[in-house]
Amino acid sequence: MKLFDVYPLFDINIVKGKGCKVWDDKGNEYQDLYGGHAVISIGHSHPHYVEMITKQVGELGFYSNSVINNLQQIVADKLGSQSGYDDYALFLINSGAEANENALKLASFQNGRKRVVAFSKAFHGRTSAAVRVTDNMKIVAPINEGIDVTFLPLNEEEAVRNELAKGDVCAVIIEGIQGVGGIKLPTPAFLQFLRKECTETGTILILDEIQSGYGRSGKFFAHQYAGIRPDIITVAKGIANGFPAGGMLISPLFAPVYGQLGTTFGGNHLACAAAIAVLDVMKEENLVQNAATVGAYLKQELEKIPQIKEVRGQGLMIGMEFEEPVKDIRRKLLFEEKVFTGVSGTNVIRLLPPLCLTLAEADLFLTRFKKVLNNN
Ligand SMILES: Cc1ncc(COP(=O)(O)O)c(C=O)c1O
Repeated sequence: MKLFDVYPLFDINIVKGKGCKVWDDKGNEYQDLYGGHAVISIGHSHPHYVEMITKQVGELGFYSNSVINNLQQIVADKLGSQSGYDDYALFLINSGAEANENALKLASFQNGRKRVVAFSKAFHGRTSAAVRVTDNMKIVAPINEGIDVTFLPLNEEEAVRNELAKGDVCAVIIEGIQGVGGIKLPTPAFLQFLRKECTETGTILILDEIQSGYGRSGKFFAHQYAGIRPDIITVAKGIANGFPAGGMLISPLFAPVYGQLGTTFGGNHLACAAAIAVLDVMKEENLVQNAATVGAYLKQELEKIPQIKEVRGQGLMIGMEFEEPVKDIRRKLLFEEKVFTGVSGTNVIRLLPPLCLTLAEADLFLTRFKKVLNNN
């Protein structure tokens, strides 16, 4: 059987990883400034992570959500205390799209409404409601079209005020920092405005922190720069360092109802072991602070590079916009300098390294990056 060919692939087979480095099957070493698409939070093959998962699979790989799984409570306790959301409740699923799907569903159960407000360039996943609130009609199939969504420009208060005043909006969904959209930041004032308007109109505020959360922005959640508390926060990507897992942090506003939400695999024993290891290492190695420090340094140095039109981002979620398409730069970085990076659209290079990137590794990347830009 052949593979369903939906990904344009680089001809590289990555077989090993350690910290912020990966190796291909020919033994070439690469710097990982991409983190496998913002997924590798604590670094590849961290010994604590390897030990926790190995031990868990030797004891119990899986049992169902119909019995107690104490590991879920350990994840919830550690996440609550490390993120500052002790009073919220945790629901675990398997991916980012599934987290947003459940968040929208819970919001609709809560206020009985159907319409969603989302923002231009938003990306929230590829399943039914999640893809419908994603601002890219190319990936919305006819079957996904049923959900009622209104896209508004980011950071424009008046448009949001007018829509929410109609009283029929179920939820506003917004990324802590837009990732796929090109590292675009909602301003703190805009997030504070959304918080206030949502409260006043009975609208649920969902913060999608799937890419920007779990320390990536230099705070545990990117929205914490604005000092707001959303009604639901969705997480995935870095929460289990590559083991498929997602979650929702749910405010005390919501009362759980048996049967409303559910999943076979969500919160399984292996996912929890991985998620606990991630939170342990983040705390032990001060990775949120490291993301803030190394990210600020990288941003400051990138801003000195004349070929870059604009540098955006927070912590270790950085976008560099160029006047021209970046395809060539990215290819040269990968094949000549052996550095993995990401892109957004055609003109933005995205950096999403593991949160343990050191200053020395940042410098090595800067040297390689400047070499490519100067030879381009
Ligand atoms: C902000 C955001 N939300 C949701 C998703 C979807 O996550 P997943 O691919 O795990 O379904 C992504 C993935 O890139 C994302 O960046």
